Amino acid sequence: RISRRRIECRRDIHRMNIPFLDIYESLKPSEEEKAKQKQLMALLEKHVNKEWPEARLYLYGSCANSFGFKKSDIDVCLAIDDLNVNKSEVLLKLADILQADNLQNVQALTRARVPIVKLMDPVTGISCDICVNNLLAVINTKLLRDYALIDERLRQLAFIIKHWAKSRGVNETYQGTLSSYAYVLMCINFLQQRNPAILPCLQRMERTYAVNVDNAECAYFDQVEKLVGFGSQNRETIAQLVWEFFSYWAFYHDYTNEVISVREGITLSKHEKDWTRRVGNDRHLICIEDPFEITHDLGRVVDKYSIRVLREEFERAAEIMQYHSEPWVTLFEPY
Ligand code: CTP
Ligand code: MG
Repeated sequence: RISRRRIECRRDIHRMNIPFLDIYESLKPSEEEKAKQKQLMALLEKHVNKEWPEARLYLYGSCANSFGFKKSDIDVCLAIDDLNVNKSEVLLKLADILQADNLQNVQALTRARVPIVKLMDPVTGISCDICVNNLLAVINTKLLRDYALIDERLRQLAFIIKHWAKSRGVNETYQGTLSSYAYVLMCINFLQQRNPAILPCLQRMERTYAVNVDNAECAYFDQVEKLVGFGSQNRETIAQLVWEFFSYWAFYHDYTNEVISVREGITLSKHEKDWTRRVGNDRHLICIEDPFEITHDLGRVVDKYSIRVLREEFERAAEIMQYHSEPWVTLFEPY
């Protein structure tokens, strides 16, 4: 596959920009919805501060990284400094407090991989998951949001890719396909590698932001307002980028040897990461390095069946982008 001659992009690709941008606009959350999320956060903060005056609440995930669709649930992290904190006890206590305040369907799931309290706020209609001390997620949320501020093509591309993945059923980690977080990292790395680059590699620049979490040093250049216009030498449009993205993952990515790394802004070799063979449940059939937890491969959920599903979906999408007259319709057809 790798040696295949480069396919040329269709001539009429530009007429697809407006339909793709329309889809992007139709998925974006409204200001009204953002305001409701803030309202719910304020309510939760009030309750939390009564019980744990030192604690803080952070939004993370799609509601805060700017890659969220409209009508999505919100993810909240309760940060408690106490090192001896027992997460289950905190969650059970939290569930008790929130239950007493008319919040609906309050449930503490203390045995989940990421233990959480779930709830629904009848006033705003928003559902919410609250976890405890998952600070790496709060920080990688900030990294994604900062990348999105540099060039709006990232947000456009990631919306289209996420929408495609959800429509085609390849956004289900429990079925061995990839998380939304993994798809956004694939988009960032892809734009870092365009020529000329559309995104820089923030973790290889001057460290203007640095925190230590769970003994991992998280540091990067976060003064992104200084980087607006970074990618302006590159004039590629959303339709071209969607075409290139799918063609890359369908025909050019070297699944046997390569690791996608946002941290380095390039692809690394599986060899140097020692990700060449299966260890436990990590099969490393498609490798996406977490930017901060660098031993963590976000492709580790993918098994020998789901890798075929995934690659066939990339190939289907690439063919549609190349040959169909209205790719913006067929691309998102339910599977
Ligand atoms: N996350 C993580 N490591 C993972 C998966 C997720 O740190 N392996 C964190 C990230 O901070 C991510 C958040 O959990 O932003 C939510 O993950 P996910 O549900 O994949 O992404 P969302 O952006 O919430 O997407 P969706 O719109 O599909 O809910
Ligand atoms: Mg989510």
